[in-house]
Amino acid sequence: MTELAPPLEPLAFLLGTWRGRGRGDYPTIESFEYDEEITFSHVGKPFLVYHQRTWDLDGRPLHTEMGYVRPVGTDGAEFVIAQPTGITEIHAGPLDGQTLRLATQSVGVSPTAKEVRAVARTISVDGDTMTYRLDMEAVGQPLQFHLEAELRR
Ligand code: HEM
Repeated sequence: MTELAPPLEPLAFLLGTWRGRGRGDYPTIESFEYDEEITFSHVGKPFLVYHQRTWDLDGRPLHTEMGYVRPVGTDGAEFVIAQPTGITEIHAGPLDGQTLRLATQSVGVSPTAKEVRAVARTISVDGDTMTYRLDMEAVGQPLQFHLEAELRR
């Protein structure tokens, strides 16, 4: 077993493989449900590795993303995320107990990606249950709900 880098201890509650179901909506699209698997792992360095995959309820792949979480002292974190849809997100925010509130520092879009201006993510863990909510400002709409999910470790 690789030893956890000490700066990661405040974020250790995220470690593991999480599976569950979520729902999504936005003014420009039909609402939908999805199954999800999220893994937070570490390699002995002071960052977490993040991998997320989703499927529709018939098992067809939907959104997926990968990234890294970087601790900031004992009460904050930064999150770097890359998506195959040509979007990158760089977040920073406070860690309040086992709740991480992330606001966009910058969003990058490739030339053919959809227009996304800002994303806000709140991730919370209570025992072996993870919940999150994601809001976005995209395709000309103001910042508002896109996703929420509940997963179990
Ligand atoms: C659990 C993760 C996610 C799932 C399951 C998901 C699913 C969906 C679905 C089913 C749609 C409608 C069909 C489509 O345009 O493909 C959609 C649209 C969209 N999503 Fe997500 N999404 C996820 C995460 C994200 C994230 C992280 C972002 C941005 C950072 C994002 C941005 C968008 C945008 C910009 C649209 C298009 C809206 C439009 O064109 O009107 N999504 N998403």
